[in-house]
Amino acid sequence: MFKRPRRNRKSSVIRKMVQETRVSVEDLIFPLFVIEGESEKAEVASMPGIYRYSPDLLLTEIGECMALGLKSFAIFPSLPEDKKDKMASESTNVEGLYLQTISDIKATYEDACIITDVAMDPYSSDGHDGIVQEGKILNDETLEVLAEMAVAQAKAGADIVAPSDMMDGRVEFIREALDDEGFEDVSIMAYTAKYASAFYGPFRDALDSAPKFGDKKTYQMDPANRREALIEAELDESEGADFLMVKPALPYLDVIRTLKQDFDLPIAAYNVSGEYAMIKAADQQGWLDGTQAMQECLLSIKRAGADVILTYFAKEFALLSN
Ligand code: PBG
Repeated sequence: MFKRPRRNRKSSVIRKMVQETRVSVEDLIFPLFVIEGESEKAEVASMPGIYRYSPDLLLTEIGECMALGLKSFAIFPSLPEDKKDKMASESTNVEGLYLQTISDIKATYEDACIITDVAMDPYSSDGHDGIVQEGKILNDETLEVLAEMAVAQAKAGADIVAPSDMMDGRVEFIREALDDEGFEDVSIMAYTAKYASAFYGPFRDALDSAPKFGDKKTYQMDPANRREALIEAELDESEGADFLMVKPALPYLDVIRTLKQDFDLPIAAYNVSGEYAMIKAADQQGWLDGTQAMQECLLSIKRAGADVILTYFAKEFALLSN
C-alpha cells in the first residue's frame, strides 16, 4: 500500500493542517428576539438557552456578543395580538418596538451589523407573510407593504434588509424603493430558497406568529424541489440581491451546494429554530454531545457551500472560540 489516507489523520497538528473547512465567528449571524417591556428576559420553551429580550436587555446581550467577536444580528420582533392587524401597519411605526430597537442598537453599537426581517407575519393578525383576502395571500399588493417596511427599517439604521416572505418580485420592488429614498448602500439578503418547513415550529412559538389558518405552501417552496431553487436564485440575483439564502440549512445541504456552484453571490444558510431545538433536546436527554453535534452541523453547512450561517448557536460557538 503506497496510499494510506490515515497518514494525514495521525496527529492533531496534521489533521488541522489538512482541514478543508473552518467555521469562524465572522461567518455567523445571531438571530435575536425582542419583546416589549423593561428588564424582561423570557426563555423560549422549545429553544433552551434562547430568550426573548426587552429592548434594554437586548442591548446588553448584543454588547456581550460584540465583546466575543460576534457582530452580526438578525432581529425579530414579538408583538402582542393587539398590535397586529391585516395590513401589518405596526411594521412602519417609527416609535414602535421594532424600529425603535433597531435605532437604539445602531446608536449604541455603531459597528454592529443589523439585519432586519422584511415580512408581514410578526405584525399580521392573520399570521401570514402577505395580505390575506378571502383565504388567499395577495402577491402584488403585499409588495407595497414590504417596500415601505424595508425603507422604514433602512431609516432606522438597518445595514441589511432580509425579505423572508417569498412573494414574487419582492427583491426588485424593495431595491427600487430603497434606492428612491437614497438607501443605495443598504444590502438585501434574500431568503431565496425558503421551504415550507416543519422546522420553523419553535420560531413561531417565540413570536406567536403561527398562521391563523392554513399553511404557507402557496408561497414557501416545496421540500421536494431542488431545481426550483435555481429559478428563485436567478430572479433574486437579477433583481439585485446581495446575498442568496437557503432555509432551513441541514435538510437542504444539496440546495446550498447547488446555489454555491451556479451563483457567484455569497450564499447564506439559515440553521433554523427546529434544527437548534433537535440538538438541544437530544443533548438534554444525554443522547448525544450537544457541543460536538453543533460544531459538526455548522461545519457541514459551510462544507456544503454556505459563506454565512444564521444560527441560534452563534453565541455558544463564540464563547467556545474565545
Ligand atoms: C417568517 C420567518 C420565519 C422564520 C424566519 N422568518 C418563519 C416562518 O416562515 O413561519 C423562521 C426562522 C426559524 O425557524 O428559526 N417571515
